[in-house]
Amino acid sequence: MFLELNGIGTKQAQLTRALRAAIVCGRLKPGAQLPPTRELALELGLSRNTVLAVFESLRADGFLVGRVGAGSFVAYPAVPEPTSETVSPLDAQSAYSQRARMLAASRVDTNAPAPTLRYSLQYGVPMTNPALTTGWSHAVAKAAQFADTGYPPVQGLLVLRTQLCNYLARRRGVQARPEQMLIVSGIQQAMTLAARVLVDQGERVCMEEPGYFGARQLLAAHGADLVLGQVDGEGVDLAGLTGPPPKLAYVTPSHQFPSGVVMSLERRHSVLGFARAHSCWLLEDDYDGEFSYEPQRIPTLHALDNQQRVIYVGSFSKMLFPSLRLGFMVVPDALRADFIAAKWLNDFACPAIEQLALANFMADGGFERHLRHASHALQKRRTALIQALKHHLGGKIQIDGANAGMHLTVWFADLDQEELEALIHRARSRGLGLFSIRPHYQKPPRTPGLLLGFASLPPAELEIAVRLLAECLSEIESARRHNPGFARLQSVQRECADTLADQPQRR
Ligand SMILES: Cc1ncc(COP(=O)(O)O)c(C=O)c1O
Repeated sequence: MFLELNGIGTKQAQLTRALRAAIVCGRLKPGAQLPPTRELALELGLSRNTVLAVFESLRADGFLVGRVGAGSFVAYPAVPEPTSETVSPLDAQSAYSQRARMLAASRVDTNAPAPTLRYSLQYGVPMTNPALTTGWSHAVAKAAQFADTGYPPVQGLLVLRTQLCNYLARRRGVQARPEQMLIVSGIQQAMTLAARVLVDQGERVCMEEPGYFGARQLLAAHGADLVLGQVDGEGVDLAGLTGPPPKLAYVTPSHQFPSGVVMSLERRHSVLGFARAHSCWLLEDDYDGEFSYEPQRIPTLHALDNQQRVIYVGSFSKMLFPSLRLGFMVVPDALRADFIAAKWLNDFACPAIEQLALANFMADGGFERHLRHASHALQKRRTALIQALKHHLGGKIQIDGANAGMHLTVWFADLDQEELEALIHRARSRGLGLFSIRPHYQKPPRTPGLLLGFASLPPAELEIAVRLLAECLSEIESARRHNPGFARLQSVQRECADTLADQPQRR
């Protein structure tokens, strides 16, 4: 089998890259069988353990599938759902459907299968590794033998809730009793339940601007009247809201999505003060709060709250992987019964096997081992990305929001939005996935920017991805130099954007 190892990085990294490239370029077709690990190791002069580790990691990333006793095969790409184009849709059958239809047009679909890109800087893709895949598959196999086959408890298995309470107290300073904890199928469900329990149609809800599109879409479809709380360098500013106070505010203090701002302690107190003064509920989304690169961590809103105004929600989508569809919420005592009722009405409960597997994974230390490993690896990836950006793009960009999480933001002061779209398009044609920050703003930001996720590529590949990005940017700049009307057009577009941005914005 012809595989070129290019001598950069460890043997394991070289073989991973070579196999991934062969699969992505189509030299190895879906369904093709790979040689046995022993044979490939001999052929390439590598140890068998190296080849085994590479196969395992390609399996974890979905490039290969293993069949017991038969070996490893190139995975088939996800097949798009067949569409029934001949059926024309009826008028929307409910107000909810009508709103959801209108929102669908602007949807950023994170669930869509990513096109096969050699280097994707997709944000929101967490770090998996072979140890996690192996540990988790053992945990699920074991749990399947012991899990009860009846309907699970609505609130979630007590063993899991107890494990989570211990974990949250230790790692996030969140003091919660198992009775206050609800296991949900991710933060998306937690937000659905919060909207149902706390918000009637037409009531005001505060969304961060810029803010998480998943929350914005869900609350708008629910019929909430969305008001925008501007995000500045300290986080969202609720005190600056005008008009009647909202009933609920959705906030991401640990790592504001998408800007990456970590909310200051003063602002946290101000947000809590606002909630107290106006009887406003706070929905604290701690989606990637586990991963922080600051020496001193600021307590969560939940930890600072002494009035039980905060509903704290977290997810295993980033700490483990999103296909698990498990998350949790800590609800104030006075709302507990209402949240349990809403969960029961929504889906009775979350699946028992995964809950039990997770509880055992947490109890035997596998979960926190993975978190330690992931934190360490993410630090390295983040450093590599920042270094590569400074090296290849230097004065052309500004980097923000790199103190926590799995993505950072990069602003291009010399481009306009159209040029940024052209950059994204050009990069895509060269196998590089780039993602604009624009869909997370209600009003366009003054400066175009990208969200760069760094969790799914190792440092050497992040360096190559940034080099590609710099090359594409140079091509866009050179196209501009050869188009004399461009500079004038650009300044007119900037003037229009400035006029449109009639509210103070971070960018
Ligand atoms: C801000 C924010 N909240 C929550 C989530 C995840 O939600 P879930 O637990 O439903 O996967 C994401 C996913 O990307 C996110 O970016």
